Amino acid sequence: MDIEQVVALHYAHGSLEQAILDALAAAGKDVNRLTLADLAPVDEFHIGGRPATVEFAGQFGVHGGMRLLDVGCGLGGAARYFAHEHGCQVTGIDLSGEYVAVANALAARVGLGGLVRCQPGSALALPFAPESFDAVYFLHVGMNIENKSALFAGIRRVLAASGRLGIYDVMRIGAGDLSYPMPWASSPDASFVADAASYRRALEAAGFDVLKERNRWDFALESFRLMRARAASGRPAPLGMHIVMADNAGKKISNMMHDVEHGLLAPVEMVCQVVS
Ligand SMILES: C[S@@+](CC[C@H](N)C(=O)[O-])C[C@H]1O[C@@H](n2cnc3c(N)ncnc32)[C@H](O)[C@@H]1O
Repeated sequence: MDIEQVVALHYAHGSLEQAILDALAAAGKDVNRLTLADLAPVDEFHIGGRPATVEFAGQFGVHGGMRLLDVGCGLGGAARYFAHEHGCQVTGIDLSGEYVAVANALAARVGLGGLVRCQPGSALALPFAPESFDAVYFLHVGMNIENKSALFAGIRRVLAASGRLGIYDVMRIGAGDLSYPMPWASSPDASFVADAASYRRALEAAGFDVLKERNRWDFALESFRLMRARAASGRPAPLGMHIVMADNAGKKISNMMHDVEHGLLAPVEMVCQVVS
């Protein structure tokens, strides 16, 4: 199996759309009249969920009519957010055919099928013409990709002149062995977590200026505190990323929380621009 097959297998669920719809119904939602807010607890597969996407969008600076590419779009939560809140036309691409199918089905359910289109494919072989997008972003994807130089060069190719790249990834901030399974990898062989300095070097070599960088460690700790408080309330939410992660969900989440809380990892945002 090559690494992309290993990664796709890690994220495979088997009956994800039905599991999400069942959980929404159990949470009292009408699955025939869903809103973006209904989906947010289950379609944003990154630390901090929808609030993290809102914060990221504020840093990234997009506006109506922009053509966006969401690399490693997952279930398309962020793509739908950018389409709905900012009027962007969003293309998503993801290794997981199952995630792409669910992303498109959820977009149709909330009436965004015309603005959000997701397709299967690799971040390392983007099937788009040069300068197809005004901005590209990826949220919690770089941890699955070893060759970040190739990733950034491919993104640079599909970006228009002065186009922006936004990143929100889990990065290394301290030394020590990581705990597995993680939400993004069952074992170290599919995990390519790197530090911010390595990202910056690869970005600059690919022709990007790094305009902004924000370490979101404090934000992650606060979001974990809220998760724990909810769990301790004795009323665990029927909706949450445990639906998507299925196997070992609790272990994956607690390992990630442990390594963030012990100063090994933090989510970091970067906003970059093609050097003109
Ligand atoms: C942790 S999930 C994040 C999903 C989404 N960005 C979000 O924040 O909700 C990582 C996603 O990246 C995708 N991915 C990982 N490596 C990829 C690659 N080489 N090409 C395309 N997608 C990839 C996975 O299939 C998975 O859907």
